[in-house]
Amino acid sequence: MAANPEDMLDPRHLAQKELRIMRLTTEQLDDFNRDGFLFLPGLFRGDEIAVLKERMKQVVEGDGPEILRERGSEAVRSAIAPHLRDETYRRLSLHPRLVEPARQILGGEVYLHQFKINAKEAQDGEIWHWHQDYRTWHEDDGMPEPDVINATVFLDDVTEFNGPMMFIPGSHAEGRIDSDVEFERVPGYGRLSADAVGSPYSKQTINAMIEKQGIVAPKGPAGSTIFFHGCTLHGSAPNMSPWGRAMVFSSLNRVENYIRRPTRPDFLALQDFTPLASMADDCLTAP
Ligand code: SIN
Ligand code: MN
Repeated sequence: MAANPEDMLDPRHLAQKELRIMRLTTEQLDDFNRDGFLFLPGLFRGDEIAVLKERMKQVVEGDGPEILRERGSEAVRSAIAPHLRDETYRRLSLHPRLVEPARQILGGEVYLHQFKINAKEAQDGEIWHWHQDYRTWHEDDGMPEPDVINATVFLDDVTEFNGPMMFIPGSHAEGRIDSDVEFERVPGYGRLSADAVGSPYSKQTINAMIEKQGIVAPKGPAGSTIFFHGCTLHGSAPNMSPWGRAMVFSSLNRVENYIRRPTRPDFLALQDFTPLASMADDCLTAP
């Protein structure tokens, strides 16, 4: 077999290769700032997603408090903080294709505020009502500013049938939306996420914004990734298809914006505020 020219690089070049970092273009940053989200189809390759899907089988097992189930079924809704118990997910949490864009968008060092898999299982995956993540992070965790984003990696192909995430473009622009609707909080977040029990905003508020700004539902192959702002309104419909719609959500917060008053268990509101050091670009498939 012909030698791969990259294997013949001297160690100095190899070090450079490992340090290769992903940069968003000015146009991509402008799109993010205008829409409150940025969709990058195929950001991760099929072989990288295969490794994550294989590990997911173990990661969603068990009945500890970090495994949340759908209402009225045993289907897994979310597996919280898999990076704390699985090496592959730890590597994903430090992946430069997530961490470097987050640094660029937020303009500084970042740490992980939350990390989870939402399984949205075939036929059983339930609704996520319209919400802004920053409302919870501010009210429950004491996050001072909305200097926070999510990076959402598709672990399955996402189509119109399996409950794609939906966004209201530009809904981040006004910041945190005060709401007259108090949303039900589930004590201890034992088995359900608060998002499962009703939209925290009035229908009139949401409908008016949708009529004006529309809805976008990014769809694409497994490995595609959405970056979205902590104030962007989003949600998803139930999965009525035979195809799962698992996604990883990495919530990256500016280190200066660390949470001041956590009230939730620390696997839900992580409290290691050390700036993330991203790993090599091939960290998911390297031995
Ligand atoms: C979320 O908003 O945290 C999850 C939405 C989804 O999984 O569709
Ligand atoms: Mn959310």
